[in-house]
Amino acid sequence: MNEALNNLLTRRACRAYEEQQIKKEELDAILEAGKYAPTARGLQSPIMVVVQDKETIRDLEKMNGAVMGNPYGTPFYGAPTLIVVFGKKDSLLGAADANLVIGNLLNGANAVGVDSCYIWRADEAFETEQGQAYKKAWGIPENYQGMGNVILGYGKAEGKKEAAPRKEDYVRFV
Ligand SMILES: Cc1cc2nc3c(=O)[nH]c(=O)nc-3n(C[C@H](O)[C@H](O)[C@H](O)COP(=O)(O)O)c2cc1C
Repeated sequence: MNEALNNLLTRRACRAYEEQQIKKEELDAILEAGKYAPTARGLQSPIMVVVQDKETIRDLEKMNGAVMGNPYGTPFYGAPTLIVVFGKKDSLLGAADANLVIGNLLNGANAVGVDSCYIWRADEAFETEQGQAYKKAWGIPENYQGMGNVILGYGKAEGKKEAAPRKEDYVRFV
């Protein structure tokens, strides 16, 4: 099968990670894939923030868990790298742009042999006082909202499930 298509079909969400950090060249390639996502009017509106400091990841994980009502949970599953993707608030386009970037990050990761998962609740997490403080420290403008978190790392075997069968009526030819 075509290599690019095979990459799209074999990416799976991973929910258990080794501690080992991914290589810089892998991270760079993944970020480059993110940068080349299509964006409305070519404005490249999203912002990606890379976090590899363990304590900061843990802090952000607590914020994410708190949104779920469980600040002691591990919604980032021990992944050593986190990319927070911010989208421009003003229109639906900002959300669409950011989610296409996230898709490219996930598929880019698979292409270089890095495991990943999209983690939700960035919006609520970065609306909190603590989240706002992070935004300020990272220089994220006020009119940006947390759109999604991408966790990255080398997955443990138990971290991934087989792809679910695709629903029968996914596509309608009319
Ligand atoms: C918008 C979105 C939000 C998601 N949020 C979470 C999440 O918070 N936690 C999680 O473990 N997985 C999350 N996922 C991963 C999905 O659960 C996963 O993609 C889905 O089960 C299909 O599995 P696959 O990615 O291996 O095909 C999210 C995926 C998407 C697209």
